[in-house]
Amino acid sequence: WVLAVTAQTPTNIAVIKYWGKRDEELILPINDSISVTLDPDHLCTTTSVAVSPAFTHDRMWLNGKEVSLSGGRYQNCLRELRSRASDVEDEQKGVKITKKDWEKLHVHIVSYNNFPTAAGLASSAAGLACLVFSLAKLMNVKDDHSRLSAIARQGSGSACRSLYGGFVKWIMGKEENGSDSIAVQLADEKHWDDLVIIIAVVSSRQKETSSTSGMRETVETSMLIEHRAKEVVPKRIVKMEEAIENRDFPAFARLTCADSNQFHAVCLDTSPPIFYMNDTSHRIISCVEKWNRFEGTPQVAYTFDAGPNAVLISHNRKAAALLLQRLLFYFPPQADADLNSYVIGDKTI
Ligand code: DP6
Repeated sequence: WVLAVTAQTPTNIAVIKYWGKRDEELILPINDSISVTLDPDHLCTTTSVAVSPAFTHDRMWLNGKEVSLSGGRYQNCLRELRSRASDVEDEQKGVKITKKDWEKLHVHIVSYNNFPTAAGLASSAAGLACLVFSLAKLMNVKDDHSRLSAIARQGSGSACRSLYGGFVKWIMGKEENGSDSIAVQLADEKHWDDLVIIIAVVSSRQKETSSTSGMRETVETSMLIEHRAKEVVPKRIVKMEEAIENRDFPAFARLTCADSNQFHAVCLDTSPPIFYMNDTSHRIISCVEKWNRFEGTPQVAYTFDAGPNAVLISHNRKAAALLLQRLLFYFPPQADADLNSYVIGDKTI
């Protein structure tokens, strides 16, 4: 017999960034962060997990290729899930798995990202969140989403925010064992549903410095990072929560852009400096800044993660249509060019 479960998890984009860990093993951050979860139809991961007595060891395939599960992060997630598994019964198949059986049974995991062309967007967030969620369903783990977020966190920090839709806060927590470092939903997906997100795929190349090693180097060498984590972010988190609650787009846009810029400033303050953005990214920032200044009030927010791709957030469909018109004029997408496509909702141009 084989028992299987399939789940789909969207990726999330941080508007107040997580950058820096206080515990590398448990993945505990040095500051709170806030993100917006994208619609599940685009930029998401679909994962099927299966268990069978015929499986001799745990295996995983990512986008059709087998990948190793021996890494500490996968192992931590699998161990946590196994220890929380419950009895599972499928009368139709005549299957009965007890809590104890899960220690001996092996799983197969098959995962696909629906954004193969945009490698720079292939955040680990959706992948690890989906893996944890689908395995938790298969193993009948009874913990709630916030507990599951703490397990996903141990796979990749930003993954803990993908277990909820809408706006999500990852609370850094104080406990050494990480028990209070969990994600909570600030507002659901309906709360501010006229926001439109456009992603300019500036480069689909793999980033040179991974987030994991980049943030380690920043914590080790940057003098600005402590100021950011202790002085700037705590105040910004309070203001961002207010902006989200009141659907105050100008405040939301100002905070989002400022936080993206400060995140890239601490990358530059790292030794050796880390450059995630390129000339096209900088030109997009100038373009949006000029437009916002011309309008007198922010129409668009931009944010860049550990790569050159721009995530642009418009406050409604009309502003998004105007933004796209401008982007297509100033940055026409061309294969093999600096900017090769736009992802808007479920369409790619
Ligand atoms: C810039 O979650 O990928 O996207 O915890 O080491 O797996 P690890 O790092 P990861 O870092 C994400 C960094 C970021 C900002 C964010 O998503 O908050």
